[in-house]
Amino acid sequence: MKRIVLLGATGSIGTSTLDIIKRFPDRLELIGVSAYVQEEALKEIVNRFPSCRWAVLFGKSPSINRVGKTRFFHGQTALLDALRDYPPDIVVFAIPGGGVIELFFSILDMNLPIAMANKECLVMGLDLLMPAVGRNILPIDSEQSAIWQIIPDRISDVKRVVLTCSGGPFFGKGRDFLRDVTPEMALRHPRWQMGKKVSLDSATLMNKALEMIEARALFGFDIDKISVLVHPQAHSHSMVELIDGSVFIQAGITDMRLPIQYALSFPERWENPELSFAGLDNAFSWDFYHPDRDTFSSLDTAILAMKKGGSTLAVFNTANDILGDLFLNGTIGFLDIMDINYRLVDRHSPWPVEGMEDIRRAIDWTEAEIYKEARLG
Ligand SMILES: NC(=O)c1ccc[n+]([C@@H]2O[C@H](COP(=O)([O-])OP(=O)(O)OC[C@H]3O[C@@H](n4cnc5c(N)ncnc54)[C@H](OP(=O)(O)O)[C@@H]3O)[C@@H](O)[C@H]2O)c1
Repeated sequence: MKRIVLLGATGSIGTSTLDIIKRFPDRLELIGVSAYVQEEALKEIVNRFPSCRWAVLFGKSPSINRVGKTRFFHGQTALLDALRDYPPDIVVFAIPGGGVIELFFSILDMNLPIAMANKECLVMGLDLLMPAVGRNILPIDSEQSAIWQIIPDRISDVKRVVLTCSGGPFFGKGRDFLRDVTPEMALRHPRWQMGKKVSLDSATLMNKALEMIEARALFGFDIDKISVLVHPQAHSHSMVELIDGSVFIQAGITDMRLPIQYALSFPERWENPELSFAGLDNAFSWDFYHPDRDTFSSLDTAILAMKKGGSTLAVFNTANDILGDLFLNGTIGFLDIMDINYRLVDRHSPWPVEGMEDIRRAIDWTEAEIYKEARLG
């Protein structure tokens, strides 16, 4: 029996993780959960999973102390104490954004295996982590899970990895069209049901840009070994090409429960008929295209950020977090998310990242610069 703590339990990845835990009651036991402010939803989860010993809200104090045997707490210190008092076998980290990087490193320092959905912390902490799979991090992001599942033991046998990308809601559109798109249009993803932040990142291809850096953080690949192809059907979740010319493709249903289940079952495979790939019984097509890098500059910005290195990675991610929020609240346009980020990464003079203080400094620099750029300050 693996004891699971689920951070971000009320979100999209959180809900899919609960589904997997419910499906394997003899193998997985939920012992702790967290959310930001959704107390009622957290209570419902605890009622469905009475094995939960504790529940933590980050954004406010809970209105009650306990539900059944589950104790309710507030804040990061309480969460870290609970992890120390009742250590789980795996922590599922499904809180979005780079704002929780200190929490992530605190858990990593406790030597607890982390099933990691959050790519932003891996991007910002690249220099402190690489390669992260050697540090007990189990990828949940479907592209990284694909690479993890097919990568050979000898990493030097990898010629390159190709991250596949559905193209998002604006595949095939040019800058003229994108100038006036609304948050509602940007959040409508054609293939995946996801939280707001990752849906917007898919529309700007920032999601793929972050994943290029995430692949470097997780597996240690050189920048020139990581590329991207648009694959609108999203059957493939990524590919690995080996030095002798063989190409391995991981394919499957577009459902995050598959990579979540693998992270929780690893090194085993568990049968789950709900996740079978119907495509294999029907005729289906696979199309692959090169991304339109002129329109979606996010990919080149990520490459530039990796080449500059150090604090630039935290700048790139922080800028994306803030600019995404500014777009969703109507302050800036869709193209500004990509254009401003490129300008910031381009003019940033990086410093080495040797600890959390260097990342904090990069966050402060980005916040100050972004408000000048967006003419808010
Ligand atoms: N969704 C996907 O299919 C998908 C795929 C690949 C990777 N990812 C990655 O997985 C992560 C989670 O994405 P998601 O789509 O599941 O997000 P989501 O649906 O927005 O859910 C976010 C969860 O985190 C909690 N939360 C939000 N801000 C928090 C904060 N500052 N402190 C503590 N808890 C906080 C939320 O609590 P409340 O409900 O109380 O606000 C909720 O439980 C992201 O990093 C994303 O990039 C997601």
